[in-house]
Amino acid sequence: MSVTSCTDAVPRHVAIVMDGNGRWARQRMMPRLAGHRQGLEKLREVVRWSMEAGVAVLTVFAFSSENWQRPTDEVSGLMGLLAKALDREVPELSRAGVRLCFPGDREALAPALRRSLEAAEAQTAANEALVLNVCFNYGGRWDIIQAARSLAQRGEPITEASLSAALALAHVPDPDLVIRTGREQRLSNFLIWQMAYSELYFSDALWPAFSREAFQQALSDFARRQRRFGRTSEQVGSAGQVVASEA
Ligand code: FPP
Repeated sequence: MSVTSCTDAVPRHVAIVMDGNGRWARQRMMPRLAGHRQGLEKLREVVRWSMEAGVAVLTVFAFSSENWQRPTDEVSGLMGLLAKALDREVPELSRAGVRLCFPGDREALAPALRRSLEAAEAQTAANEALVLNVCFNYGGRWDIIQAARSLAQRGEPITEASLSAALALAHVPDPDLVIRTGREQRLSNFLIWQMAYSELYFSDALWPAFSREAFQQALSDFARRQRRFGRTSEQVGSAGQVVASEA
C-alpha cells in the first residue's frame, strides 16, 4: 500500500461514535429516546461544523448490529427517529450538497425504511460537498464477512485491496480521525478494518453536549499528530511528508 502524505491539517474523513445519549437523558430524568432525539440535533450541528472545517467525509455510528439487544421500545424508537429524520432532513441536506449513504445490513430493516434509505441515497448521489455515511445496523465484523462472501461468490482472490473494495465504505477513503464521545474508550465493532491507521480521539462530553469547541479541539489535536503508517519519525519528516521511501 502506498502512502503519499502523513498528517494533513484537516482530516479528510472523520468518523464518530456518538455515545452518551442515554446518560445525558438520565441526568435530566428524561427517557433514553429523548437523549437520542437530542443526539440527532447534535448530528445536524456536527454536519455543519464538518463542512465549515473542510472535512470531506463524515461517518457516524447510528445503530450497531448489537443494538438490537436494547429494550424493544428503544430499538423501535431509533428506527422511527431515522425514518422521521429522513423525511425532515433529506431536502435540506441535499440542497447543502450532502451525499447520504447508509452502510449496514438492510435485510433486517422494515421494507418502508429500506425504501426511504434507498431513495435518500439516490436523491443525493451526485452531491459533492460532503459524504455523510450514517452507519445503521452496521458492525465491523458483519462488514468484513459480507465483503469476504461477495468475493468468494464472484470467485475473486482475497487480497487487502479486493477486500477493501468490497466493504460497505469502499466509496470513501479510510477514516483519518475517529472521535468517540461519552467517556468510553473502545471501538465497539465500528469500522474495525478501516480504522487500522486512524487517529483515535476520546471526548468526555456526552454526545448531545458535544460542543463546537470540543469538535474543534479534536481537529486541533489531530493536526498536531504525526502519522507514521509503520514508518519511523525520521522517514516521515517534521511536516508529515514521506522523506524516505522504498519501492
Ligand atoms: C449511543 O448512546 C448512541 C446510540 C446507540 C444511537 C446514536 C443515535 C443518534 C445520535 C441519533 C441519530 C439517530 C439516527 C437514527 C440518525 P447510548 O444510548 O449508548 O448512551 P449511554 O452510553 O449514555 O447509555
